[in-house]
Amino acid sequence: MSDAAYLDLSDLTLAYGKTVAVERLDLPIRKGELIALLGPSGCGKTTTMRAITGLLKPASGIITLDGKDITRLPANKREVGLVFQSYALFPHLSVFENVAFGLRLKRLPSTEIVKKVEDGLAMVGLGQFQGRKPAELSGGQQQRVALARSLVMQPKVLLLDEPLSNLDARLRLEMRTELQRVQRESGVTMVFVTHDQNEALALADRIVVMRDGRIEQLGTPEEVYNSPVSRFVADFVGFENIFPVKDGQLQTENGLTELPIPLSAQTTGLAWRPNMVRLGEGRFEGEVLGVAFAGGTREYLLKTPLGPIKAEMDATAPAFAPGSRLAFDLPTERAAVLDRM
Ligand SMILES: Nc1ncnc2c1ncn2[C@@H]1O[C@H](COP(=O)(O)OP(=O)(O)O)[C@@H](O)[C@H]1O
Ligand SMILES: [Mg+2]
Repeated sequence: MSDAAYLDLSDLTLAYGKTVAVERLDLPIRKGELIALLGPSGCGKTTTMRAITGLLKPASGIITLDGKDITRLPANKREVGLVFQSYALFPHLSVFENVAFGLRLKRLPSTEIVKKVEDGLAMVGLGQFQGRKPAELSGGQQQRVALARSLVMQPKVLLLDEPLSNLDARLRLEMRTELQRVQRESGVTMVFVTHDQNEALALADRIVVMRDGRIEQLGTPEEVYNSPVSRFVADFVGFENIFPVKDGQLQTENGLTELPIPLSAQTTGLAWRPNMVRLGEGRFEGEVLGVAFAGGTREYLLKTPLGPIKAEMDATAPAFAPGSRLAFDLPTERAAVLDRM
């Protein structure tokens, strides 16, 4: 992976008529990188993909790929592959012919086609299914065929738009691992779109959190998970206890609460995951409204002077019953520090 941008979206604005869907997006993507676009439905993920493939002409901005300006290049000249959630396989063609389809259009010699298709199917673990029709495959296998069909074209970038969202939970996990392996082995640069934070965290080298057509945060999975920059990102990655900070104090439902340690001036909020809340001791007191057993942990909902607090504790610790009162703390030193609320 080199540091220079291989696929570079620069000051990209994308619109449908007068509706701006993506605004002034800057996104440099490195060669060999697996980057995830993460965000809620409607934030502009698919629109961004369509601009990269050439299906949507940017209102303004520049897209370069491998040092070449491709902004006005037709889709079929871009060397960009696309896999999306509906597999769009040809039902009447065999697995082999589905994967061979694009290669035949390129009029490659048939020995070369056979070699490429066999390599592609082996890569996704479907070597023995060449003769089957798509209807004779599971959803996960069909998605692998779609993946192989894109890979054999040796695209410079492979775009995957929610490719796993039609699969059941177990298959989704399996395909996640599979995609990661394929990416490592093929070295292809991948842009992966998802609204599922766990998928993005598990797969990506870097995550782009999108909101309303803009980048809210760009960072490694660790950075996004541990150090969200804003309330939006914190909320999206599972911080359930989020408070604004004003004049170095925590703003709660019942006014301001002093913080034990000073905060930098640009801190506008603090956030704690449920497992960062200390239960059983501390400077606050709350009442247990509900407790839910979640396997390794117990999840608590507390009624407190700060407002509702969600906490989580190891299930091996003694349980606090609903109705009981207990001390708790929001350790400032463990909180995520938000720059924007
Ligand atoms: N063909 C279209 N015509 C008009 N507006 C569209 C069209 N496709 C998407 N949009 C709008 O653009 C925004 C981004 O959509 P999209 O990129 O599909 O979001 P995502 O893939 O993140 O769910 C949304 O507000 C959506 O309503
Ligand atoms: Mg979409």
